[in-house]
Amino acid sequence: MLQVWNLCLLGLLTQVRTSKALRDVSGFDTAPPKIAIIGGGIGGTSTAYFLKELFEDNAIIDLYESGAIGGRLATLPIAGYNYEVGGSIIHPKNQYMVDFTSKFGLQKSRACSGNVGLFNGEEYVYRDDSYKFVNFVKLLWRYGWDVYRLKQLTDEMLTNFARIYTLQTEGHAYQNVTSLLYDMDPMFSKMTHNSSAAWLKGFGFHDLMISELITAVTLCNYGQTPDVHAFVVRGGNKRVAEELLKHSRAAYLRRLVAEITPNGQGHFKVTSSETETPDSRVFSEENPSNIADSDLRSQDYDIVVIAAPLTKDNNNIKFVNFTKEFDFPGHYERIICTMVQGKVTPESLLLTPDDAIDEILVTNPKLMFNSFGKQCPVDAHDYSYDNPDVWKIFSSAPLEEDQLNIFFSKRNSTNVIDWLAYPHYDSDQKLGDFELLPGMYHVNAIEWAGSAMEMSIIGAKNVALLAYKYWLQNPNAGMKMPLKDEL
Ligand SMILES: Cc1cc2nc3c(=O)[nH]c(=O)nc-3n(C[C@H](O)[C@H](O)[C@H](O)COP(=O)(O)OP(=O)(O)OC[C@H]3O[C@@H](n4cnc5c(N)ncnc54)[C@H](O)[C@@H]3O)c2cc1C
Ligand SMILES: *[C@@H]1O[C@H](CO)[C@@H](O)[C@H](O)[C@H]1NC(C)=O
Ligand SMILES: *[C@@H]1O[C@H](CO)[C@@H](O)[C@H](O)[C@H]1NC(C)=O
Ligand SMILES: *[C@@H]1O[C@H](CO)[C@@H](O)[C@H](O)[C@H]1NC(C)=O
Ligand SMILES: *[C@@H]1O[C@H](CO)[C@@H](O)[C@H](O)[C@H]1NC(C)=O
Repeated sequence: MLQVWNLCLLGLLTQVRTSKALRDVSGFDTAPPKIAIIGGGIGGTSTAYFLKELFEDNAIIDLYESGAIGGRLATLPIAGYNYEVGGSIIHPKNQYMVDFTSKFGLQKSRACSGNVGLFNGEEYVYRDDSYKFVNFVKLLWRYGWDVYRLKQLTDEMLTNFARIYTLQTEGHAYQNVTSLLYDMDPMFSKMTHNSSAAWLKGFGFHDLMISELITAVTLCNYGQTPDVHAFVVRGGNKRVAEELLKHSRAAYLRRLVAEITPNGQGHFKVTSSETETPDSRVFSEENPSNIADSDLRSQDYDIVVIAAPLTKDNNNIKFVNFTKEFDFPGHYERIICTMVQGKVTPESLLLTPDDAIDEILVTNPKLMFNSFGKQCPVDAHDYSYDNPDVWKIFSSAPLEEDQLNIFFSKRNSTNVIDWLAYPHYDSDQKLGDFELLPGMYHVNAIEWAGSAMEMSIIGAKNVALLAYKYWLQNPNAGMKMPLKDEL
């Protein structure tokens, strides 16, 4: 549930205030470092972009990606259109994502929004009305003033969350997730030691609100803004990652990194093997099964950035001969994304043929799916009535054929994408380190505080700054101080 909470939190980021007059207080006159980035998702590609910004042309950057650029951001073609099947929702106030899309000229498509229903397995406890005012009254009726108090609480948190943009613009960087969260708001680092339920209860929220916490998200995402899918990147979110890579001018190596070891001169040796063509679109996260020893290759680097999840159970990268043991927390949750082009049987979802509900969110974790929603494509088409009927179902286990036959009276196509989606959070979450060693960094440590595109970019900016300070051996490198007012 923390995950949902985090998405909600990111969805409401308040505007950033950064000082206009900035000046870099560091000089730059050392030899260019060789830097390896492992992972070409939004985290790895934005690391490459930020490194290029900091080092300008004074760094040689290799980016290793064994699958497709974009990672957990991917689209799937159905009936001539493309659909997001991984990370999809970007709120207009996700500062970095907004900046990138406008910088790269990736036009935002107009939103495609539908009516939401909250389903508890037996009935719809809430349904959107066409009138926003009516929605608010309905929510008040069910949750009382908790609705209003939740908005106040999130507003306050979001103001504090937005501090990260100012801190990063000024060049502040953190060795671990705890210290990053603490600088944003001391309360954030405390929150990670507490379940969302316990945390909300501590604020005096009622059980109904908490047990239907997803409602809180709906409130955040749907209640406050007229349309949650307000922000769609044409061509799909993975286009942002592709553009970041292009603008960073990093060399793109289609290789799977198998091993990292110290090279005896205070630097690192990265060993990798060739992978199948990335266009084969294997959607599963990491797939180290087909390594042929013959094409193993090693290269030396001054700095290594790992921009992929590292967990106890799913570690395709071996750390060999380091004097320190690396301890990565937990595991990632599996999310199955089933994309169906076909005709829904309304009765199977306890709806009547006249019910205008396009997005079903589930408040009961025991149900076989988490969400069931009608999709719009990411292409530069106008949204129109002749879009194919495409549905996306998220579930934690694969759906059986029989079950799909109950939900759909007719199916033209069915595609299943199996993701290791985001961390499984414990209520007393151990937070990881961005700095594994001086010179070796891990972007995805940030996912243990919250897993979303914007979070990976924040992690990437932090790691780029750490690498820059390390290389210049100057903790003030990259720091920008507001200029003093001249006379
Ligand atoms: C179904 C789903 C829905 C989501 N919905 C949203 C949403 O609505 N909004 C939102 O903001 N976020 C959402 N997210 C989360 C978001 O997609 C992720 O937080 C973000 O994309 C993570 O990016 P990343 O670059 O950190 O990691 P990844 O995208 O996982 O990138 C890591 C890359 O590293 C590569 N790699 C791994 N190991 C190696 C190796 N040894 N050698 C070479 N390459 C390697 C992988 O192939 C992968 O491409 C969703 C995620 C999923 C799965
Ligand atoms: C976390 O990082 C900060 C500096 O950013 C450091 O002072 C602190 O000791 C670190 N904490 C742990 C547990 O490593
Ligand atoms: C959880 O958060 C509440 C405040 O919301 C606090 O009262 C409680 O002590 C916290 N529990 C833990 C274990 O930190
Ligand atoms: C690790 O260290 C041992 C002993 O020094 C050495 O034999 C081995 O080759 C090293 N492995 C790698 C991958 O460098
Ligand atoms: C049905 O799917 C097939 C491919 O599976 C596709 O060629 C065809 O155009 C689809 N039909 C419609 C009506 O979209």
